[in-house]
Amino acid sequence: MTYASTATTGSDRRGTESTTARVTINDIKAMKLRAEKIAMLTAYDYPTARLLDAAGIPMLLVGDSLGMVLLGYPDTLHVTMADMISHTAAVARGAQQALIVADMPFMSYQTGPRDALRNAARLLTEGNAQAVKLEGGHAIASTVARLTAAGIPVIGHLGLTPQSFNQLGGYKVQGKSRESARRLLADAHELEAAGAFAIVLETVPAPLAKLVSGKLTIPTIGIGAGAGCDGQVQVVHDILGLNFGHQPRHAHQYVDLAALITQAGSAYLSEVTSGAFPTEANAFKMDESLLEGIDSF
Ligand code: KIV
Repeated sequence: MTYASTATTGSDRRGTESTTARVTINDIKAMKLRAEKIAMLTAYDYPTARLLDAAGIPMLLVGDSLGMVLLGYPDTLHVTMADMISHTAAVARGAQQALIVADMPFMSYQTGPRDALRNAARLLTEGNAQAVKLEGGHAIASTVARLTAAGIPVIGHLGLTPQSFNQLGGYKVQGKSRESARRLLADAHELEAAGAFAIVLETVPAPLAKLVSGKLTIPTIGIGAGAGCDGQVQVVHDILGLNFGHQPRHAHQYVDLAALITQAGSAYLSEVTSGAFPTEANAFKMDESLLEGIDSF
């Protein structure tokens, strides 16, 4: 892995030397200084985290998008702390090197810094995340400052903030007017001053995202925000073709896993019904003489 300056040796909890170390927030910030683009993906489970970690993705987001893409909810508002902790812990078991960021779910931080501190701490201690992500600007800047002062790394999230889709009137591009663009830039500066180590910019016009990225010293991670961001984040189900046709304009599908899964399911169905599966190679043998007379009582 080239991202992590510290990725050669580290030490585990017992102080034993290990050969890999996890990407840190300093590594991510240093990538911006080196003008290296940052690739981030969502992950919600152990196998996906393990595979994306092996692919070298430096930062994995356990997004509350899991409510929609994994749990079948209509939005992210139904996602609970219990959901986030369980999925974050699974991702942490799968990924040994990537920096793991957990989304703070709806109403786990909007109710004030005390709740935010308690819930963020649970994502780090029970979920084993290394950082949390919160949606919003000015309204949550003081909470971000409390979290970072307490040693909890934070990624901000501006632009289209899905937890506020009711307030925003839907999932719309944000920052298109001069006033909303100015507010977004001011929010980004406030989050940076509060100690956020990166900011996700979601569904924001590319020229605005580029301008914001140039003004900040911390990296911007775009989703639907153009190529001028310091990094990109995508929902993994969108790039794998697992979104049942709801392909957002900003996403690129790299493989059609839905077709592969359906094909595998159909092949299994036909082999089980025809008797072609299982074969002897899938079965276990025994000394059949041991079975003689066991049904005789
Ligand atoms: O929940 C999520 O997946 C996110 C990304 C869209 C950035 O917040």
